[in-house]
Amino acid sequence: TRVLVLNGPNLGRLGSREPDVYGNQDLDALRRLLDGSADGHEIDLRQTDDEAELIGWLHEAVDSSSPVILNPAAFTHYSYALRDAAAQVTKAGGTLLEVHISNPHAREEFRHTSVISGVATGVIAGLGFDGYVLALEYVKRKLA
Ligand code: DQA
Repeated sequence: TRVLVLNGPNLGRLGSREPDVYGNQDLDALRRLLDGSADGHEIDLRQTDDEAELIGWLHEAVDSSSPVILNPAAFTHYSYALRDAAAQVTKAGGTLLEVHISNPHAREEFRHTSVISGVATGVIAGLGFDGYVLALEYVKRKLA
């Protein structure tokens, strides 16, 4: 099964962006890490700074019944459009896990709200790249 691992704005800058918060590994390192835990599933890791593109990828997930691991980045905190797209995945019976590298609850007040969590299957935050690996473990169990 193809697993969509979707990353929102500024996550293409991982490795150089605020390494004190996000570490110094980049998206290619994340891709390699997930490929190493794929167990025969296809990891389709993507990143965009564009809200419309990210919404389109969620529509694709609905239409192809693909499980989704989503780091919505800053869209987490205010994009009702992304929430409505995420809701389509879970309402259709699909799995959508919200992942954050940092723990937004330990950061600025505006990061304490997620408009995505209410329609996500589950949420993992604060565990760095391990959060994606653990999300993938859950997806694999569900598919098994
Ligand atoms: C993030 C947390 C968000 O608050 C922030 O806007 C990001 C990354 C994380 O992975 O910790 O861009 O989603």
